[in-house]
Amino acid sequence: ADLNLQEIHDFMISIAKQAGERIVSAKPTTEAAGSKKNSVDLVTETDRAVETLISTSLRERYPTYSFMGEETYKPGNRLTPAPTFICDPIDGTTNFVHRNPYVSISLGFAVDLEPVIGIVYNPFTATLYSAIKGQGAYLNQEQKLPLSPSAPIEGLSSCLVAVEWGSDRSGNDFKVKSETFKRLAATKENGGGMVHGLRSFGGAALNLCGVASGALDIYWEAGCWAWDVCAGWVILTEAGGKMVDANPGNWNPRIDERRYFAVRGGEGQEEVIEEFWSLVDGAFEVG
Ligand code: IPD
Repeated sequence: ADLNLQEIHDFMISIAKQAGERIVSAKPTTEAAGSKKNSVDLVTETDRAVETLISTSLRERYPTYSFMGEETYKPGNRLTPAPTFICDPIDGTTNFVHRNPYVSISLGFAVDLEPVIGIVYNPFTATLYSAIKGQGAYLNQEQKLPLSPSAPIEGLSSCLVAVEWGSDRSGNDFKVKSETFKRLAATKENGGGMVHGLRSFGGAALNLCGVASGALDIYWEAGCWAWDVCAGWVILTEAGGKMVDANPGNWNPRIDERRYFAVRGGEGQEEVIEEFWSLVDGAFEVG
């Protein structure tokens, strides 16, 4: 049956706004925070309560669609081709715990494993990013993204790059990450890309929206999950951006491969992907 994407999109926005009210009125304290796999993988009561609010409303309205959420995910749960809501109730939990407002609700919808609707809402700044596949991406439902015409990308050394440490700070993936950060920052004489700047704001979904808007040129991370990126993926690609694999060589990654490399729209997009990949040290094994 044909899905009414516009209607689903509008409903998702209303849910994200309700969730936002709940997040803004919550009082996060470090004491209330639990941790999942280690001391930096934080979760708060608010994460859980907001996911319940979102999943309950979505299930009531769309009982036949699947739901995948960060807080109820169990290892081994697989994303299927069925229409699926993919939700991170609070993307940027560490920021939330520290009262840093770089926080969003990331609510995506995928069909046949392909992201088709994305809603990313920062309730602290009342900033809403949204997109439906094939219909463009918008800021606050009125300004089309990117916010100004995309200038050509003049190579990696002209780029502002977001990277994230994530919550896994061990093993090979940690080594690949930190070594690659170093190479990006290093001067050309030292074999690096000497990018204009590296940023780690602490929220995958808003990073993708930053690339979609044109405020960032690149965002690169391995180890985050489909719920961190599903919504932002639609917003990014509808704004002319491209999502490829964080590991060199794969131009068409699956949404649940857990390695993401996003580049803004503009001439020189493919060249900068190749340039970046040539600097990546080793391969990630996540997923
Ligand atoms: C995290 C944030 C962070 C990224 C992590 C994610 P959470 O999501 O997006 O920027 O580095 O990989 O897990 O845990 O705050 O929902």
